[in-house]
Amino acid sequence: MLVAGEPGIGKTSLAEDGAARAPVAVFGRCWDGTGAPPFWPWAQAVRQLTGRHGELAEMLGATGEFALYEAFARLVAEHAAAHGRVLVVLDDLQWADASSLRLLEFLATTRACPELTVIATYRDTEVGGPLARTLATLVRLPQVERLTLGGLGEDAIAEYLRRAGADATRAAEVARRTGGNPFFLGELVHLDGGEVPGAVADVLRGRMAAMPPGAPGVLSAAALLGRDAPLDVLLDVVHDVMDVPRDEVLEVLDAAVRARLLTEHDMVYRFAHDIVRDVLRDGLAPLRRRACTPASRPCSSGAARIWPSWRTTTARAWSSPAWRPRRSSTPGRRPPTPWPSSPTRTRSSTWGTPSPSPASFR
Ligand SMILES: Nc1ncnc2c1ncn2[C@@H]1O[C@H](COP(=O)(O)OP(=O)(O)OP(=O)(O)O)[C@@H](O)[C@H]1O
Ligand SMILES: [Mg+2]
Repeated sequence: MLVAGEPGIGKTSLAEDGAARAPVAVFGRCWDGTGAPPFWPWAQAVRQLTGRHGELAEMLGATGEFALYEAFARLVAEHAAAHGRVLVVLDDLQWADASSLRLLEFLATTRACPELTVIATYRDTEVGGPLARTLATLVRLPQVERLTLGGLGEDAIAEYLRRAGADATRAAEVARRTGGNPFFLGELVHLDGGEVPGAVADVLRGRMAAMPPGAPGVLSAAALLGRDAPLDVLLDVVHDVMDVPRDEVLEVLDAAVRARLLTEHDMVYRFAHDIVRDVLRDGLAPLRRRACTPASRPCSSGAARIWPSWRTTTARAWSSPAWRPRRSSTPGRRPPTPWPSSPTRTRSSTWGTPSPSPASFR
């Protein structure tokens, strides 16, 4: 089973929930960085099954990639015969090494290991070439299920707020700001008003840092224009005022939609969550932000309709490094990165309620 979604949407939690119901469950977490040996997540899983240490080939006593695949299948079969069906959770597949992806493909396509269930989670906002190729193979297989997690709905958010001892009447506002992302909810739950928690800002800055270089300017322009930014107005502002080529603006907008920071409908761009806009606006120093806010929002297309001094001050503000993204990590979490415009599924905030049972992972 493939579990996809933006950062913080609850992929790992759902996989852990599935693992808690399996007779035998082991975890392999991919590493966001260099230095991990090949098959790293699988090696972690085998270590938990066997108690052995070392690289995967060593633990399995196999030389050569194919021999290793077969040795892994044998190990799972033996383990399942003694203890029951084996569940391997591969977490954060967007960071998996090529060898790990090949083993996953081998197991799924050959069905060499019928006693094995795999739940693989990944951020669908960060899918690179190798993972995209693996996914293309996996999704064609009838036994592979794919689940894309969306945010919690307003009722679930109200319940979440109630359980956290917060004001449940804020559910609609909180939903607008967070899109129901449980990580953002957890950070925002005890804050009033428009404050943006540092951890949330860090995650969002990290997601923006992965965007094309023109993103800060284009997205800040969109943030200042309001919740909705019509494409023609954005192009006028960013191209005419900031002298950014139109192609570059379009490239940033496409990337922002792919990263689920923006949604697009009828050539109008909207921030997926208000909190994204808040972070961009906070990126401008307060005085600049005030100076940059148009006296009256543009009500129709054309930079000429926008308050002229706003045009010059924004151009100056954007060319300064004031809002440049900081690289930092959220305490207790991996370094930040990337979000769903239209949830494919609405979940309850109650643990375990709608999670698929391990049987449905087969
Ligand atoms: N259904 C839920 N109800 C309440 N809280 C939840 C729910 N799902 C997840 N959470 C909480 O939200 C936070 C983020 O969840 P989780 O780590 O599973 O997200 P993730 O999608 O794996 O994120 P990442 O891509 O960063 O790994 C955690 O603190 C988790 O406890
Ligand atoms: Mg996770």
